[in-house]
Amino acid sequence: MADSEVNEHLFKVLVVGDASVGKTSIIKRFVHGIFSSNYKATIGVDFALKVVQWDDNTVVRLQLWDIAGQERYGNMTRVYFRESVGGFVVFDVTARKSFEAVERWLSDLVEKVRLPSGEPIPIVLLANKVDLLDDEGEAFMKDEELAELVGRFGITAVFATSAKQDIGINEASSALIEAILENE
Ligand code: GTP
Ligand code: MG
Repeated sequence: MADSEVNEHLFKVLVVGDASVGKTSIIKRFVHGIFSSNYKATIGVDFALKVVQWDDNTVVRLQLWDIAGQERYGNMTRVYFRESVGGFVVFDVTARKSFEAVERWLSDLVEKVRLPSGEPIPIVLLANKVDLLDDEGEAFMKDEELAELVGRFGITAVFATSAKQDIGINEASSALIEAILENE
């Protein structure tokens, strides 16, 4: 019967952004439910698999490519980016420089990755470490700056996240999966 069929998808998803913004921590939180405050820089690329029961008949396997922040200065990114269908671009809300780099990561993704249809891949932007903002809650970037990036690069959604306190990560993943499924 058609309605008892199970659809399984395997999606390659890139996780990029400057060094130490929290890419590996977000993935560890999402996949293993853990957080560590020790920083151990990723070398090259790491992989993680997250299986999501999307709905009654849909299982999504996200193959997460955790790309070292240092890699933006290398030449491997084009190889790493191949055949991906979605991406997270991460910055640290306490590090202005990491926000400035977002534009370069976005340009990189738009230039180097295309879906078979020729369309750019859906991208979700993560403003990480929101647990470190004080009660005033003011990050350094202005809403207009963010809105400009979202418009210019056609970003799917932006989420405030904390790997430490488990904020926003599941929601962000759902938004990306939804956008990826729309392209199927
Ligand atoms: P590279 O592998 O070098 O590209 O860095 P990365 O983006 O993978 O960063 P990583 O996840 O290793 O985190 C860097 C540091 O930030 C670590 O000390 C983490 O514990 C810390 N960190 C990550 N996410 C959060 C967060 O949401 N809140 C706080 N307070 N610290 C975080
Ligand atoms: Mg890392």
